[in-house]
Amino acid sequence: MSANFRQNEAPAKPLDVAALRAEFPILAREAYGRPLVYLDNAASAQKPRAVIDAMTAAMETSYANVHRGLHLLSNEATAAYEAARKTAQAFLGAASPDEIIFTSGGTDAMNLVAYALGVDDIGEGDEIILSLMEHHSNIVPWHLLRERKGAVLKWLDISDDGEIDLETYKALFTSNTKFVAISHMSNVLGAPAPAKELARIAHEHDAKIMFDGCQGAVHGAVDVQDIDCDFYAMTGHKLYGPTGVGVLYGKKALLNAMPPFKGGGEMIDLVTTETVTYNDAPHRFEAGTPPILEAIGLGAALEWMRGKGVEAIAAHESQLNAHALEELAKLNFVRVYGRAAAKAPIIAFTVDGAHPHDVSAILDRTGVAVRAGHHCAQPLMKRLGVTATARASFAAYNTHEDVDALIAGLHKCHEMFS
Ligand SMILES: Cc1ncc(COP(=O)(O)O)c(C=O)c1O
Repeated sequence: MSANFRQNEAPAKPLDVAALRAEFPILAREAYGRPLVYLDNAASAQKPRAVIDAMTAAMETSYANVHRGLHLLSNEATAAYEAARKTAQAFLGAASPDEIIFTSGGTDAMNLVAYALGVDDIGEGDEIILSLMEHHSNIVPWHLLRERKGAVLKWLDISDDGEIDLETYKALFTSNTKFVAISHMSNVLGAPAPAKELARIAHEHDAKIMFDGCQGAVHGAVDVQDIDCDFYAMTGHKLYGPTGVGVLYGKKALLNAMPPFKGGGEMIDLVTTETVTYNDAPHRFEAGTPPILEAIGLGAALEWMRGKGVEAIAAHESQLNAHALEELAKLNFVRVYGRAAAKAPIIAFTVDGAHPHDVSAILDRTGVAVRAGHHCAQPLMKRLGVTATARASFAAYNTHEDVDALIAGLHKCHEMFS
């Protein structure tokens, strides 16, 4: 992985993939009478027993609403919820748990920043830099701000492999640049962004920077203090955790200077009939009952990843990636999009003569689950000159046999469409 991912404190033990697979109950099931080969991990990852058990235990033994109770169960639920915050803090290398906000997902985290920052800090003519490989959840919130406040969106081109040229990036800055919102790793091309350099250059121009880490946080250990980003968003369900929860990291001073995104219980200091004052972060941005069980599940997922070793997972994935790219290169009817050097195992491809939806339908019948479509990245599809691709994406529990099943399925597609 690139230097912008944190090295593990201890040398990572290689993964025992067979033992690890046994921790995922769903991998025991079949698809159409064949072993399930799940290669749709960039959309959502499967859940280990540790996550399922943590959520079940929370419901069975310590469930109540958090923070506002003065009884045993509420205090236990609060302790578990706040422990998950500390786990997320450690996972991201944040300085304080107050810098970790639980959201309903990555999309919610990025909407929070675009909305709340947009209230006071971004006005008409102010410029926001985005890359052409953003997911729609890091594009549309900024379009909303453009529509609301007259902000200007400036687009950073990328190489065909998804690499960023720092000179092209620098050339986009003007005295009006206020913010950079950029993917730490493309969900289509798998290329990691040079996060530290991007942050340094943004700060040299007095602009703030947010990374969409919905993929980046899955495939390498992140250190937000080392990157020195202002905000970092990630989503629980791609990190082997549950749906309905995500994390926004933000520097404390910035968070406490931003107005709230949503109003309700928990986020206030004082409410009268005339006025309202707000709590500090993180509660300022956690209006209403938070995703208690989901945050506990995410905490268990992050502990699980750290237990296996984020670097050990990345090393295993990189072997799978190399094997898959090597085998795909032998198929003269397959075109792969994105071959950056430090690419994560997210492989977008097309098959000659076949629509990606047909490719995924045929693969599905062989037990291989992949995704097909525009991957919520329409500007990137346009940049690549396609309307859609198929995408195979790998996780800690995938094996070389899974790659081989993909290749066998693609031969079948070729036979049907050639
Ligand atoms: C790079 C990237 N950003 C953002 C998202 C949105 O995440 P969520 O739908 O969990 O909010 C995704 C999910 O596909 C993604 O891959």
